[in-house]
Amino acid sequence: MSIGSSTSAAGDPVLEVDDLQVRFTRRGEEPTRAVDGISFSVGPGETVGLVGESGCGKSVTSLAVMGLLPRRGVEVGGSVRFQGQELIGASQSTLRGLRGADMAMVFQDPLSSLNPTVPIGVQVTEVLLEHRDLNRHEAQQEAVRLLDRVGIPDPERRLKEYPHQLSGGMRQRALIAMALSCSPRLLIADEPTTALDVTIQAQILELLRELVVDTGTALVMITHDLGVVAGLCDRVHVMYAGKIIETADRHDLFARPRQPYTGGLLASVPRLDGGKGARLTPIRGSARDTIPWAEGCAFAPRCDHAQDDCLTEVAGSTVPLESDGPGRELRCRHPIQYPPASSGATASGAPR
Ligand SMILES: Nc1ncnc2c1ncn2[C@@H]1O[C@H](COP(=O)(O)OP(=O)(O)OP(=O)(O)O)[C@@H](O)[C@H]1O
Ligand code: SF4
Ligand SMILES: [Mg+2]
Repeated sequence: MSIGSSTSAAGDPVLEVDDLQVRFTRRGEEPTRAVDGISFSVGPGETVGLVGESGCGKSVTSLAVMGLLPRRGVEVGGSVRFQGQELIGASQSTLRGLRGADMAMVFQDPLSSLNPTVPIGVQVTEVLLEHRDLNRHEAQQEAVRLLDRVGIPDPERRLKEYPHQLSGGMRQRALIAMALSCSPRLLIADEPTTALDVTIQAQILELLRELVVDTGTALVMITHDLGVVAGLCDRVHVMYAGKIIETADRHDLFARPRQPYTGGLLASVPRLDGGKGARLTPIRGSARDTIPWAEGCAFAPRCDHAQDDCLTEVAGSTVPLESDGPGRELRCRHPIQYPPASSGATASGAPR
């Protein structure tokens, strides 16, 4: 069990992911190791963030948890337990029974997640009819209540409309309504606000926060947006090239990031406490400048802290994920150092 495990006061974990690995093996192509041994867990009423740049494996992780990866051309290893039940290798009918009812997902792209040829109302009531003991009339009434709950004005009229007639924000709300329809124990939200303007973003995040507080749902929030993390997540796992490289409580992560990549992420977003004229520093290079973990730290080509021992030939083994104080884990040979709080000195390499 990883240090990022959630038990205790919150109750037994709803989701436990242990050493999850996903490899795409298309014929004629080099295999892609999209997820490379990640472990985390989420307790009831807890919000856990998976954060990282495009391509680091966030969506593939969520699809693996939901059992939604194609069976051909994909190798999945490790363990995913939902309320104690192992899902890796579970039958399609078991997974289908859990999805929608006990575990739900809001996908990255609302338009492609909805059927364009079917009115919203039919799509919401179908979910209700499949997973709840309601007749058609009751399901229609419940659909109105759900759309109202997610803040869609005039829900009766909207239920008769097709997805393209709704704005992006409304489509995302409709998807969240569908995800909430069976009060799932686990909700995975994959970049649910990326395509939305900031006002709608804030409303959707508030909606998710209410859900977690009101129903004790375990929420996995997938995002590359640290603003979303700051507003919503209790605990955060930062991912890079398929691995978790830093885990911390949200407050600790923002106050004292230790991994140079996390520090870089924080330094590249505006902060209210940054002061007038504070410069933003993007991380140099791009995800393409990554090296395989087998050769050393994947972030080394972009890292200002990198030294010879960050490469495997020197160190003899890949950079391990290790405990870094209470509730923290870190994969780094030369992390950002902080002086004692009272000294007034600045951290070496810390983000502003
Ligand atoms: N069906 C697939 N076949 C082959 N490779 C894939 C497939 N789906 C994803 N990948 C690869 O797996 C890696 C992780 O992809 P993933 O979609 O999880 O990234 P992400 O972190 O969600 O990025 P984004 O922020 O852009 O959504 C990427 O290198 C991607 O190219
Ligand atoms: S292990 Fe080395 S290269 Fe990787 S983040 Fe830490 S200092 Fe940088
Ligand atoms: Mg994604």
